[in-house]
Amino acid sequence: MSLFQKLQQCTVELERRNSLIPLDERSFKGAFYTPLHIVEKAYDLLTQTLGKNWQQKYIVWDMCCGVGNLETKHSFPRNVYMSTLDQADVEVMKATRTCVQAERFQYDYLNDDITENGEIDYSLTKKVPKKLQEAIKTGKKILVLMNPPYAEAMNADNPSNKAGSRQAEQKVGVSKTSIAAGMDVGFAKRDLVAQFLTRIAKEIPTATIATFGTLKYVVAPNFELFRQKWNAKFQNGFIVHSKAFDGLTGNFPIGFLIWKTNQRARIKTPIEEISVEVINKDAIPLGEKKFYNIPSRRFLSEWIIRPEANNVPALPLKNAVTPTTSRKDVRGTNWAVGAVASMICKGNDFQNATRSTALLSSGYCSAGAFFVTKENLWQAAIVFTVRRIVKPTWINDRDQFLQPTGRLTDKFKNDCLVWMLFNGSNLTASADHLKWNHREWSIVNHFIPYTETEVGATGRFESDFMVRYMDDKTFSPESRAVLDAGRELWRAYFRHADNRATRDRFMLNRHDVGWYQIRGALKIRNESGDFPPVSFVLFEQAYAALTDKLRPRIYELGFLK
Ligand SMILES: C[S@@+](CC[C@H](N)C(=O)[O-])C[C@H]1O[C@@H](n2cnc3c(N)ncnc32)[C@H](O)[C@@H]1O
Repeated sequence: MSLFQKLQQCTVELERRNSLIPLDERSFKGAFYTPLHIVEKAYDLLTQTLGKNWQQKYIVWDMCCGVGNLETKHSFPRNVYMSTLDQADVEVMKATRTCVQAERFQYDYLNDDITENGEIDYSLTKKVPKKLQEAIKTGKKILVLMNPPYAEAMNADNPSNKAGSRQAEQKVGVSKTSIAAGMDVGFAKRDLVAQFLTRIAKEIPTATIATFGTLKYVVAPNFELFRQKWNAKFQNGFIVHSKAFDGLTGNFPIGFLIWKTNQRARIKTPIEEISVEVINKDAIPLGEKKFYNIPSRRFLSEWIIRPEANNVPALPLKNAVTPTTSRKDVRGTNWAVGAVASMICKGNDFQNATRSTALLSSGYCSAGAFFVTKENLWQAAIVFTVRRIVKPTWINDRDQFLQPTGRLTDKFKNDCLVWMLFNGSNLTASADHLKWNHREWSIVNHFIPYTETEVGATGRFESDFMVRYMDDKTFSPESRAVLDAGRELWRAYFRHADNRATRDRFMLNRHDVGWYQIRGALKIRNESGDFPPVSFVLFEQAYAALTDKLRPRIYELGFLK
C-alpha cells in the first residue's frame, strides 16, 4: 500500500470512529470533531509560529482529545499526552491504533484532581502520568493543543420548547463542575472553554495554548471579567467557518488561536485586538480579519436612553399583530410615559441583531427591548439602522456595534429614520380585537409618515405622530425618493379591499395600517392575480440607493470597526 493510500485509509477510519459515537451524546459533550484538513492547517500555523522543530521542543497535552483527531498529524507522539472525558473514546483510540506511542488516558479535566479549595492534587485520582506531572512541575515547555467543548449552561427554568428543555436540563451540569466552583468571573463561569482555560492558567501558568473555539472569550462582553484575569499574548491564528465542523449548526467563526500565557507576570498584556487569517470550510484562504476587545461601556447598546415603564397596561406582542402565547416571565405588559412603539434590541452583535431587531406598536413579550418615545426616536432609528444595514456573514457574526465617534448630522439622523420606517423589520401596525389575558386589545400605529389625504385613506388615522415628528425636518434626495415611492404603495393599498384571508392574516381591521401590513397585503394581491399588479421596483431602487449611501457612513462614524 502506498503512503497516499495509507493516509487515505487513515482518514476514512478516523471519520468512521467519529461516527461511532451517538449524535445526541456528542452534542451534549460538545464533541464536535476537528476535520483533518483543518488540523493540517493548524499544524502549518504552529510551525510558522513556534518554529520548524516545535513537535520536538514542546510537550503537548490535549486534555479533551476525544478520539484524537488533533494529534494524528504529530510526528513525535512520544512527546504527546492525550486525555479525554470518556473511557470509550480512549478505547476507540486504542482499537484504531491512534497515536500508539502517546500517553492516552481517561481524565475529566474540569473535575478530576481538584480539591475542595480549588487546588490541584494529582494524588486524588493518580491518573496523570508521572512524566507529565514532572514536566509541569519543572516548567518544561508545554503546548496545550485542544478543541474544547463549546457548551454553555442555559437557564433551565425557561425552556422554550421540548428539545430546548432537554438541552437546558443537560447543560445545567456545565456550571456545576469543580473548576467552576472556584471561578469568580461572572457569566463566563458558565462556559466550558473559560473553565478549561481557568484550570490551565492555574496548573500550567506559562503554557503556550493553541486552541480551537468560538471567539467569545476574546470579544464577548460576558467575558470581560475573565479577560481581566487571564493573561495571554496573542501569537497567531485563523478563523474558519463553523460549517467545517460536522455537528455544529449556525454560521459563525471558529478560531484557532495561539497564545503565550503568563499568569505570573506582574504587568499584564491586555488583549486589545487580534488579527487572524480567514479560511473557508475547505481551508481556502479568504483574507484577514481583526477582532477587538472593547469595553462594554463603549457598546451601542449602552448608548440609548431607555424610558422606565409606567402603570398603563400594554399588550405584550411576539410579532407585529400577534399577542404573546408565553406564560412565563412575560415582559412588555406596561407602557412608558410618551411611548409610541417598542424596539426589540437584544444583544449588541450581528448574531443577535439579525434575529432581534424590530419595531412593534406595543410592548415586546421578552427581554432585550425598550420603549420608543419622541425623545429617543432619533437614537432608536440610528440603532435600528446600524444593527440591520450591514449584511451579516459568518465572519462578522461576533462583531460588536459601538457608540459613534463621529459627529451625527441631522441629515444622517433623518436618513436613518426613513431607512427604519421602510425596512422589513419595521413591524409597527394597527389592529382591533386582539385577544390576550381574557380581554380584547387594540394597537395604534404611530409610525405612518403620511396624512390620510396624501394616501387616499378611506378613514381617519388615530395618530398623526410621525407626520408631526417629520414636519420640521429636511430630508436628503435619497430619503425623499423612498418617501415618494412609499407613498405610492400606501395609495395602492387604499385603492382596493383585501379578501377575508388576507384581512385575517394581517389583522386589517383599521385604517392606520403599518408598513408591514401594507407590504404583506400588496404582495398577496400581486400573487393572487385578482388585483391590478402593483410594482415595488421604484421603491426597491430608491431603498437600495438610500442603503448604499448609508452603509459606508456606519463605518465612518465609528459604529463598526
Ligand atoms: C470539540 S470535541 C474535540 C475532540 C477532539 N479534540 C477533536 O478536535 O476532534 C471536545 C471533546 O472534549 C471532551 N470533553 C468534554 N468535557 C470534558 C472534560 N470535562 N474533560 C475532558 N474532556 C472533555 C468531549 O468528550 C469531546 O471529545
